[in-house]
Amino acid sequence: MSHAAIPQPMKESAQNMPSEKNYTEINSATIDRWVAVLDYSESQLASERLVAEREGYDINIIKADMTNPLPFADASFDLIFHPVSNCYIEDVQHVWNECYRILKPGGVLLAGMDNGVNFLFSEWDEDEDDTRALVVDTKLPFNPLRNPAHYQRYASDAEEAIFQFSHTMEEQIGGQLQAGFQLCSLYEDHDNAGRLRHYIPTYVATHAVKPV
Ligand SMILES: C[S@@+](CC[C@H](N)C(=O)[O-])C[C@H]1O[C@@H](n2cnc3c(N)ncnc32)[C@H](O)[C@@H]1O
Repeated sequence: MSHAAIPQPMKESAQNMPSEKNYTEINSATIDRWVAVLDYSESQLASERLVAEREGYDINIIKADMTNPLPFADASFDLIFHPVSNCYIEDVQHVWNECYRILKPGGVLLAGMDNGVNFLFSEWDEDEDDTRALVVDTKLPFNPLRNPAHYQRYASDAEEAIFQFSHTMEEQIGGQLQAGFQLCSLYEDHDNAGRLRHYIPTYVATHAVKPV
């Protein structure tokens, strides 16, 4: 078995250091890559561990905050899958720059993103039988750290709240281009719940590459 893609974590994150036992075949397939999942939520990481054990594959489970430098060396990865998650952070350019840094030349970034439209409405996710009109109740961008009215949406539990932020396509797709990526393709998709899905797609998925 060759180990073609073994990212080298930065020295200060010793718990992320790959060991011989990390080199694995996933689901008995002929995949012999070093694979990692990064999140900062303990419960999400516990779910990742549970599924990996259930499905019988090894994966490096890394607790880190994506608003900080990612704990990997330059040019470490062949592929990054970035699911819809940058709605939880204010500065998405940082993440695109970090993805670019840790990908090898020719590496692929697959990203899912919220297009921000759902932040226009405070009640878009009411149940399907709700017949009230959707009423726009704020201007975008939605940013609870900079707009007190947006912070108020979390007022009942602001201490515990996980804030979300709307982002423009300029930040999302323009940001990938600014980081140096080349865009190969994209598609839009509807939510699988909530009334807004009957009106407009609220998600975008992109396929970008780091030029060789
Ligand atoms: C939509 S979930 C995706 C979960 C899972 N990785 C998946 O693909 O199904 C978004 C994830 O982003 C994580 N997240 C939010 N803010 C983060 C941050 N600053 N750094 C790292 N992860 C973060 C949340 O804990 C949450 O698990």
